[in-house]
Amino acid sequence: MTDTSIDRLGAEQLRARIAAELDRTRARTALLTEVVDDADLMRQHSPLMSPLVWDLAHVGNQEELWLVRDVGGRPPVRQDIDDLYDAFKQPRKDRPSLPLLPPAEARAYVSTVRNKVYDLLDGVRFTHGRLVAEGFAFGMIVQHEQQHDETMLATHQLRAGPAVLHAPPPPEPRAPVGGEVLIPAGPFTMGTDTDPWALDNERPAHPVELPAYVIDAAPVTNGQYQRFIDAGGYDDPRWWSSAGWAHRMAAGLSAPLHWRRDGDGWAYRRFGRWAPVRDDEPVVHVCWYEAQAYASWAGKRLPTEAEWEKAARWDPATGRSRRYPWGDDDPVAAHANLGQRHLWPAPVGAYPDGASPLGVHQLIGDVWEWTSTNFRGHPGFTAFPYREYSEVFFGDDYRVLRGGSFGTDRVACRGTFRNWDLPIRRQIFSGFRCARDARPEESRP
Ligand SMILES: [Fe+2]
Repeated sequence: MTDTSIDRLGAEQLRARIAAELDRTRARTALLTEVVDDADLMRQHSPLMSPLVWDLAHVGNQEELWLVRDVGGRPPVRQDIDDLYDAFKQPRKDRPSLPLLPPAEARAYVSTVRNKVYDLLDGVRFTHGRLVAEGFAFGMIVQHEQQHDETMLATHQLRAGPAVLHAPPPPEPRAPVGGEVLIPAGPFTMGTDTDPWALDNERPAHPVELPAYVIDAAPVTNGQYQRFIDAGGYDDPRWWSSAGWAHRMAAGLSAPLHWRRDGDGWAYRRFGRWAPVRDDEPVVHVCWYEAQAYASWAGKRLPTEAEWEKAARWDPATGRSRRYPWGDDDPVAAHANLGQRHLWPAPVGAYPDGASPLGVHQLIGDVWEWTSTNFRGHPGFTAFPYREYSEVFFGDDYRVLRGGSFGTDRVACRGTFRNWDLPIRRQIFSGFRCARDARPEESRP
């Protein structure tokens, strides 16, 4: 059962919940696009990213396609711009040269679409068809906008110039956390059939049998990662896969993205401000190849996606899988560093209330965690509502990331939520933790 379950809330409450999520999300989009001027919105800050004004109108266009046209059956608002804002037809590198809607027009467009959505939300019956059951299509659109908000936050991180985003620092540690946690052998339920806003790639729920393994109680910290750098980890091909080493050489990697030498230590540029690298914060802005090299150097490996999810969801007392490490309740501020409340990861130990039953911390929020797993469908996967949401990315190109970052909204983050990216990417808010097989003497009951 969840807060979006129609049984508990009824249609009127579901309507109110959807309206509140739409409003809350649009306020975040507005913040991210109003703190810079028009020229800045139209500019491409990195070849990896779209101009912010493309993300803005794309969010409105997807909302128009799915909610106004499909769910509402209403006439198009701007059919003429569908191709411009189709992520599959327009590669990122080409987006700045497209005849994009200028900022004022983009804002007017997204607000016209939103008003039509409020209008149709008033009359929609959540029982007619899979797309609207339990408000799924609305939940999908809210999550889509939040995902673009996180992408826009990553664009802000890449943007040159003075700081425009402000937030209080994350909380200080409240508990000593470190070392490793043994996860006993046995089955657990991976994925979900019941979370109403879960996306196609999180479904269906299915049993997975895992041998005993050991996983880090917390994400790898800057202090730990600096020891890898200091030990010459970036200069020793022993720790790297062959593809990883080739990329490390070609790209000249020598530290996480946004780091620079600062006296004897390092500084880290976050959203236009340089700050000393703090040892007890999870490392962020590392690619999968760097994470894998660190794990080898440490005598460990990255967890598989199933290992990550069992550590996050499996409750040994009941044998069932929870929605989140702390239980089934939606995240609140004490559970996890989510939703851009803070602009960087919280130090290890800052969220004891968010720990899993076995004592694994900060699985949700702070940093997306790379896993060793290639992105594929769960057994029994069916694409819904369209192949382009996730199925077209299945295969050996993409690695799965789990858990969400400080820039991920709570509505777009669950114990089952799956993200994916290329192993060279590190403009995202990506970190990792390590795992290893349990030794025989550890796994004996
Ligand atoms: Fe999109």
